[in-house]
Amino acid sequence: MTILKNDRYLRALRCLPVDYTPIWMMRQAGRYLPEYRQLRTKAGDFMTLCRTPELACEATLQPLRRFDLDAAIIFSDILTIPDAMGLGLHFEAGEGPKFEHTINTIADIEKLPIPDPSELLNYVLEAIRLTRRELDGKVPLIGFSGSPWTLATYMIEGGSSKTFTKIKKMMYCNPKALHLLLNKLAHAVALYLNAQIEAGAQSIMIFDTWGGILSHHCYQEFSLSYMQQILTELKRGQKNSHNLTDYIPVTLFTKGGGLWLESIIQTGCDAIGVDWTVDLSHIMARGKQIAVQGNLDPAVLYADKQTIDWQVLQTLTEFGCHNGHIFNLGHGIHQDIPIEHVQFLIESVHQQSQRFHHD
Ligand code: CP3
Repeated sequence: MTILKNDRYLRALRCLPVDYTPIWMMRQAGRYLPEYRQLRTKAGDFMTLCRTPELACEATLQPLRRFDLDAAIIFSDILTIPDAMGLGLHFEAGEGPKFEHTINTIADIEKLPIPDPSELLNYVLEAIRLTRRELDGKVPLIGFSGSPWTLATYMIEGGSSKTFTKIKKMMYCNPKALHLLLNKLAHAVALYLNAQIEAGAQSIMIFDTWGGILSHHCYQEFSLSYMQQILTELKRGQKNSHNLTDYIPVTLFTKGGGLWLESIIQTGCDAIGVDWTVDLSHIMARGKQIAVQGNLDPAVLYADKQTIDWQVLQTLTEFGCHNGHIFNLGHGIHQDIPIEHVQFLIESVHQQSQRFHHD
């Protein structure tokens, strides 16, 4: 067994003391890095990059060579599951994801297979195994999936959407059909995440990027309840073990879910991811321990160093002198952020957070 050299991220997820606040960034591997753009050109297209374990491993490691990040996230995409269900995913330059087949009727949903991850998604598992070997305990590796609701938006809309008209129409006109789809997706996600854990993922993150477009009732019924179902099916291991790596903590991130934090915490997740609309001091004021990931506005990284420093300090101050903070952006990093600003952000978090951690 390899020894984990930097365990700050896993310690923070368990609300244990650390010497400074760990940081990783959503979409830390990606187009703001010239070496990523080069790798993507070499691969030809984004899905080939995802489907080739050596290339996915390389993309995962690129940001860690440049920056002192406290966690790695496996390079892949949330849309691998709908792709494995046969919807035919492709990415058109500058247009985002597109599916060849979309879901329109209950018959389409009944036909959908629940993919065996060791077959059609084995490339992700292989990438995880390879990346764990390459990391050699440098930092923990995060596995991930989209939430059933968020995956369903892409499957029904056929790609990205601004209005989510089709899925909302199904939700209000044919809720039974949508529940059938969400149920299938929840099973598929649970199988997939358990396979990622078995392959070596040391923590799990569920991206509910579009939960925030729902009314509060619909959020509970169509998004949160399925994430809850996944949590009950995950093989997370022994929480009370002294060995940090015997337990797989789970982070739930609903973008725009700031008003529902209490019910998200009730699911039994280990950490909540929050976007920049949330005042972290409000979460801390509730008293009960839960780890929190977030929540700098990614656009802060356009600003000068003084502004970045100040915004970091503000975030750290809101969280206060508690255990359980994982610094992150409130959503993925933008592709035109200067690399020096990322470098500066990470140094600023590590340096300024030290005085928030003392016994
Ligand atoms: O965070 C990481 O570094 C790991 C890799 C990762 C990617 N996508 C790589 C990627 C992760 C965790 C994701 C998750 C993902 N994918 C989400 C949830 C998180 C979020 O951002 O809300 C969503 C909604 C998707 C779906 C998706 N994939 C979209 C909408 C797009 C196109 C948008 C865009 O920025 O062009 C992608 C493509 C994608 N996934 C890219 C990367 C690096 C860009 C593809 C490219 O190289 O052109």
